[in-house]
Amino acid sequence: MKQNIFSTPLEASRALIHYLTGLIDEHPGQTFNIALSGGTTPALMFDLWAREYKKSTPWERLRLYWVDERCVAPDDLDSNYGLTRRTLLDKVSLPAANIFRIEGENVPEEEAARYSALVINQVPEHDGLPQFDVVLLGAGYDGHTSSIFPGQEELLTTDKVYAVATQPNTGQKRVALTGRPILNARHVMFLISGKGKAAVVKSILEDADAGPAAYIAHRAANVELFLDQSAATVV
Ligand code: 6PG
Repeated sequence: MKQNIFSTPLEASRALIHYLTGLIDEHPGQTFNIALSGGTTPALMFDLWAREYKKSTPWERLRLYWVDERCVAPDDLDSNYGLTRRTLLDKVSLPAANIFRIEGENVPEEEAARYSALVINQVPEHDGLPQFDVVLLGAGYDGHTSSIFPGQEELLTTDKVYAVATQPNTGQKRVALTGRPILNARHVMFLISGKGKAAVVKSILEDADAGPAAYIAHRAANVELFLDQSAATVV
């Protein structure tokens, strides 16, 4: 696991985009499969990507998938797809045929099965599982990642590719990429910022079993943490 620490969330986002577009450029002409997270942290990065890297990104080669989705309609403010659409997709020329959203408006169990089959069908297989080129993750205050929450650790090891999870405080259903396909990705990137995340970052760094985010961060190959100074410092 490699830590990259920057003075501001904007600089951390910029560095992540540089790293990501560098990986895309390493394989000219090839399709690049990336799974995006939601929540609030990536909004800044999506916005920057659309503003400053619009021309230099080979959008036609990207295939976009989601790590997780809240079980709401795409125009709901809680939708992870909706966030990405507003901040990134509406502003760049990524072909609609390359965007594979989790349909949060569907019945959760059925959608997890439908989306698992779609990803198995579209994303190249390695070791019996789909292998994304990049999985972009965040971490919650409670140490969750994707929508794998503490207490729902069975999602780290299940054979399902996507499964239904429950947000423990609100009871909201989520469709979430599970642990094994995350560990199977070529590259895993965490984008974490803000003072409020300092304690969880510390626990991720110090204890491989501190929670789902720590579990992934210590076990996946090619893990890069993009942090701002305040998330990287416990005072
Ligand atoms: C989601 C996520 C989730 C997110 C963390 C951090 O749907 O909420 O994809 O895993 O990455 O909860 O969220 P914040 O960026 O909002 O703190």
